[in-house]
Amino acid sequence: MLPITEHLLHLLGVEKTTFRLYAVSVLLLSLLFFLFRLLMQFLRLCWRFYITCRRLRCFPQPPRRNWLLGHLGLYLPNETGLQDEKKVLDNMHHVILVWIGPVLPLLVLVHPDYIKPLVGASAAIAPKDDLFYGFLKPWLGDGLLLSKGDKWSRHRRLLTPAFHFDILKPYMKIFNQCTDIMHGKWRRLAQGSVVSLDMFEHVSLMTLDSLQKCVFSYNSNCQE
Ligand SMILES: *[C@@H]1O[C@H](CO)[C@@H](O)[C@H](O)[C@H]1NC(C)=O
Repeated sequence: MLPITEHLLHLLGVEKTTFRLYAVSVLLLSLLFFLFRLLMQFLRLCWRFYITCRRLRCFPQPPRRNWLLGHLGLYLPNETGLQDEKKVLDNMHHVILVWIGPVLPLLVLVHPDYIKPLVGASAAIAPKDDLFYGFLKPWLGDGLLLSKGDKWSRHRRLLTPAFHFDILKPYMKIFNQCTDIMHGKWRRLAQGSVVSLDMFEHVSLMTLDSLQKCVFSYNSNCQE
């Protein structure tokens, strides 16, 4: 029996009986056990975070905004921000470490030499990140992009023949034609007084044009 139980019963103003003493002891012990487990979990998380930080130390990172925000919101969402970001990228052109908040690191791979082994790695070595892909799930469902494990392998095997290079090669000519039409449009606009333009609609139309030509063999001239 814990010595503190008598004191606790006295504090609660409850009469002391053997049963109550035992009950309170058991409750206190459970609470202690629960707190201990919580502490252990917290320590384990801290240890894992420490190991992650040590492994990430070899990657260069731009100066952080502060310890809480990390690199969040460091660059303005306009042209100035893009130019600032480019200045940083000019110095670090292999891989960059950025912190999203105080505990979430993000490695941005810039150089093809760094991207290639990751893209070629098996799903067991480079699993999909639940946090980032989780955001897309309600939107894209459990398709080829987001699924993993056996489901992904099965779907991938079914799709592979359709995307074989030999099958895709003839379509390259169509892709290039459609892109040339878009570039021609931009050149005409640039000769006029247009200094900046919203590319979204142009690229969407170019995609639609390519799809119509490749999938339906239909030329709708939708880009003109
Ligand atoms: C970007 O935004 C900042 C702050 O809102 C502003 O000072 C700056 O002039 C903007 N840059 C451009 C190119 O619009």
